[in-house]
Amino acid sequence: MIITGKYPNLRMRRNRRTDWIRRLVEENNITSSDLILPIFLVEGKNKKQEITNMPGVYRYSLNKLHTILDKAIKLKIPTVALFPYTEKKLKDAKGSEALNENNLVCRAIRYIKKNYKDQIGIMCDVALDPYTNHGHDGLLKNNKILNDETNEILIKQSVLQASMGCDIIAPSDMMDGRIGLIRKNLDKHRYQDVQILSYAVKYASSFYGPFRNAVGTKGILKGDKKTYQMDFKNKNEALREVSIDIKEGADMVMVKPGMPYLDIISLIKKQFQIPIIAYQVSGEYSLIMNGIKRNIINEKAIIESLISFKRAGANAIVTYFADRILKYL
Ligand code: PBG
Repeated sequence: MIITGKYPNLRMRRNRRTDWIRRLVEENNITSSDLILPIFLVEGKNKKQEITNMPGVYRYSLNKLHTILDKAIKLKIPTVALFPYTEKKLKDAKGSEALNENNLVCRAIRYIKKNYKDQIGIMCDVALDPYTNHGHDGLLKNNKILNDETNEILIKQSVLQASMGCDIIAPSDMMDGRIGLIRKNLDKHRYQDVQILSYAVKYASSFYGPFRNAVGTKGILKGDKKTYQMDFKNKNEALREVSIDIKEGADMVMVKPGMPYLDIISLIKKQFQIPIIAYQVSGEYSLIMNGIKRNIINEKAIIESLISFKRAGANAIVTYFADRILKYL
């Protein structure tokens, strides 16, 4: 630490005196290039359904997808993350719909690549939870989530999404060993340029509630995800997860949820040299929106929350606010 002087020679407020000086000395900022916009998909035509407890966030049918994509491109948001709402009748114990090349996500990828080429990146979750009738990210047997058997399906899901044109494969399932296996199999199928954003640090969190409703897994989840998602009491474990995934070939790592885990982002930033993506999850979004709606806080709180990720060391943020905050920047 360098001490530069003391009062009255030193007055910290001099550097805060006006807007221009504050801008001049600011240490962090945010632009649209720092944002990833999640998009929820729904089957059907002409649908734009607002999601319960997530005012301003919608599920789009494919023929309405252009409305949100055009907006994202105009705002220079680099990447969208696709999440499907899967109808009950398509769910089964093995999550078979994940491997259907005409599932909602696959059709959306093809649509975006055909109409938008490389104007915007496409990122897709790799996990079975939108497709299983028990709501878990992997195969369930005798009340246990099978690791290696699940990996076999995740590999196929990844290769399928890559073959449709997905740019960033984002395994969010938390199985052991999946990053290395997915990398190996992407390369084997000549998708060596497809990136992997590993959800390396994903906590078993109570902040995912509105998302589970958005993708139609609310109410069907049997038990919890604590045998594969991380215990929020731990942080050394987060470093181990990141180091493993880097060795296995991850191009970027995710920390999720966001605001309660800024210490984890900061720790990873110190220890590793890899892009870190923070996920401001659905529960965080709902809380902030609720505060704004009820006039408890104002909209500037959104920017404050996003800057906190940058300050902690995140390179980018997945946030449901991405398409509506640029007016405040
Ligand atoms: C599923 C997945 C979840 C989220 C992203 N991918 C939920 C979960 O693990 O249950 C949560 C995102 C959010 O809450 O915004 N693998």
